Formats: sequence, C-alpha cells, structure tokens
Amino acid sequence: MAQLAVSVVSNDDHCKREMARMLRACGVPIGIVEERRAGDTAVSDVYIIDIRADASSGMATIERLRAAHPGVAIFAVASNTEPDLILQAMRAGANEFFPWAAGGIARGTEESFQGAVRKTAARRDAATAGARQPCVTHVFLGAKGGAGTTTVAVNCAVELARLTKRPTAILDLKPCLGEVALFLGVRPRFTVLDAIENLHRLDRDFLKELMSRHKSGLDILAGSEQFDRPNAQDAVALEELLRILGKLYDYIVIDAGNLINACAVAALYAADTVFLVANPDVPSIRNAQRLVDRVRQLGAGSERIRVLLNRTSDQHLIAPKQIETALGYGIHHSFSSDYRTVSTALNSGVPLTLTNHSEISAQFGSFAKQLLGMEEAKVEPERRRPFLGIL
Ligand SMILES: Nc1ncnc2c1ncn2[C@@H]1O[C@H](COP(=O)(O)OP(=O)(O)OP(=O)(O)O)[C@@H](O)[C@H]1O
Ligand SMILES: [Mg+2]
Repeated sequence: MAQLAVSVVSNDDHCKREMARMLRACGVPIGIVEERRAGDTAVSDVYIIDIRADASSGMATIERLRAAHPGVAIFAVASNTEPDLILQAMRAGANEFFPWAAGGIARGTEESFQGAVRKTAARRDAATAGARQPCVTHVFLGAKGGAGTTTVAVNCAVELARLTKRPTAILDLKPCLGEVALFLGVRPRFTVLDAIENLHRLDRDFLKELMSRHKSGLDILAGSEQFDRPNAQDAVALEELLRILGKLYDYIVIDAGNLINACAVAALYAADTVFLVANPDVPSIRNAQRLVDRVRQLGAGSERIRVLLNRTSDQHLIAPKQIETALGYGIHHSFSSDYRTVSTALNSGVPLTLTNHSEISAQFGSFAKQLLGMEEAKVEPERRRPFLGIL
C-alpha cells in the first residue's frame, strides 16, 4: 500500500504529536508532512485542520483547501460538538469532524478517527488502482548485529527487481558505513545523506543521479559514510525522502540495521512489511522479542511483522516451533546456513541469486516469489509463551 501523506495544520505542538501518535497506530503506512516548502506542489492525501483556536480562520483554510484540491480528505478538529460548528465545517468542505477534549481526540472517537484514516487510504488506493501500482515497502530489521539483515535485504531486492522488471530501489539506512553497495559490488558516488541534504531539489532526475544502478536493474541509495549519521535530526527529512521514493519506485527495500533509532522508526512507519531477521540462537530470539514489543509500543503495526530465520541448520539446536512460540509469530521464511556460499557471494560483490544454483539462492528466489504472490507462504502465527525460562 502506498504511504498516506498527512498534513496536520495546527499551532499546537501537543496536538500535532497526539495526531501523529494516532495516525501511526492506524495500521496503514503513514507519512506525516511536517510543512510544505515554498514551491512544493505536492498535495497531501489528508489534511487535519485544528480549528480550536480560531474557528473562522480554520473554516477559511478548509474552504481554500477544498477549492484547490477537491479530492483530498479534510478532517476538522474542534473543541466542541455544537451542531452549528459541525455544519459550518462540513459546508466549508470537511469530510470528518472530531471533537478534542482533555488533551486529545475525545474518548470514544479515537477509533472512528482511525477508521476514517483507514477508509481514506483504501479509497485512495481504489482511486489510483488503474493508474500506477502503489509502492510496496519492505523493511529489514536485524534482531542482532550480524544476523544477516544485509544479506537477506540485498538478495531480496535483487530478486524483486529481476522478477518484476519494475522500478525497485534499495535504501541503506544503517548509520555509519552501511554495506549494501559493497554487497552488490557497486561503488556509489552518493549516499542517503546527499538525498537528505538536498530534499529541496529532489525531483525524479536529481534522485536518479544519486542512485547507483545494479545490473539486475535495482537502484541503490547507498549507506552513509559518516559514523554518526543518519541520526535523529535526519528522521524528518528521511520520512520525506521515503515519500518521494514511493512516488518513483514500485518496490522499496530498506536495510534498517539492527537498532530502533529515529530513522529506523521512520522506515517502520512507512513499511508495508517489517521483516525481523533472526538467527536460531538465544540472543537473537530474546532481542527479537524485545524488538517486536518495541514495534508494538510504537504503534507501527505489529501485524506487519514477519520473522525470518537466517542461518538455520539441520541440527535444530533450538526447534523452529520453540522459536515461533517464544516470538508469537510463525517463521515466515528460513534461510539455511551456508557460510561458504554466502561469503563467496559477499566477497565477490555478486548477489547469491545471480551467481549459483545453491539451495540458499533458491531459498531467496522462493522468498521473493512469495512476496510477489507467485508462491504461497506456509506458516500461521502462534501464541507467545515463555521460552527456556529466560525469555
Ligand atoms: N545464511 C547464511 N549462512 C552463512 N553465513 C551467513 C548467512 N547469512 C549471512 N551470513 C554471514 O554472516 C555475516 C553477516 O552478514 P550480514 O552482513 O548480512 O549481517 P548483518 O546483520 O547485516 O550485519 P550488521 O549487523 O553488521 O549489519 C557475513 O559474514 C555473512 O557472510
Ligand atoms: Mg548489515
């Protein structure tokens, strides 16, 4: 599903934060537009207009927006539910009206607010269904360092580009020295920081300049070469970058590293699917549990999480069933342990699926086909229970 771009028009920072929290918990990919820059002609899908402080200027804003953009959704937020006020807002062009009380959207209306957001997303997708396929964003998050997040993300991205022949990009978000380009044998001229720092001129042509092209057709936005970036200060710009990429690409794969920092959070909110890459060992599973809990806390849609088990072996030191029970998720896909094959591909800068006919490259092929609906997934989620008494 393409990201739903939402602008919150309010002078109250608390209101903006509260709206962001509720929007993030709607279960659809959301991009919150901080402020449209001068000359920016892009239009958000939803405008939330806070009319509490000044109802008449709020109504004027609604009218202006409705006249300029008949198709957008406009939600009015008011301090009371006077029938006259509701009527006035609706006549000005608001689609929805929500009362604000005691620091937030009034109790009992939060669900209808989120329902209205979801409906808007579904309507927007239906309206654009004939035009362009909505962009699909897959985020790969490692349960711990070295779990194989980059290996899985890179091979998946190459397969998506190869199988679909549609515009596909991989974005390396790992702070300090991401390795995506290296894994693909590409020497990038630009990195994600160049995109973040040049947002104001980031049109299709400029963005294409910043991307490195892999021979599979995959575009790469390489990882930063600065140790402390991208960091929390880059998160808002990154969110905007993801929105721009979403307009140009059909598939976006993000290597988010293994930390839930502000940039990874921006990626999680933009994700259609969050793939948690774990190994079949205790540290991985314990960390994976914590990450799942954190994603839930962030309201980033825990139903979007899929667990990938990398480096499995026949010995099954921990049985896959135990792992599923501990995490509360079925294992979506497993990749076997084959250090020689994976390392050879990595050292030569040629992705597995383009080099050989090993079992592990077939597993990546089948994983990508599942994502594209060309093959069926096999597992069902399970309930979470204590595991080894320590998790
Ligand atoms: N299925 C596998 N079988 C054997 N070795 C693997 C497998 N997947 C990854 N590896 C190896 O594990 C190491 C780490 O892989 P990778 O860099 O993809 O992990 P990562 O989670 O992205 O690490 P980092 O936390 O540094 O970003 C590499 O040496 C790679 O060859
Ligand atoms: Mg990595």
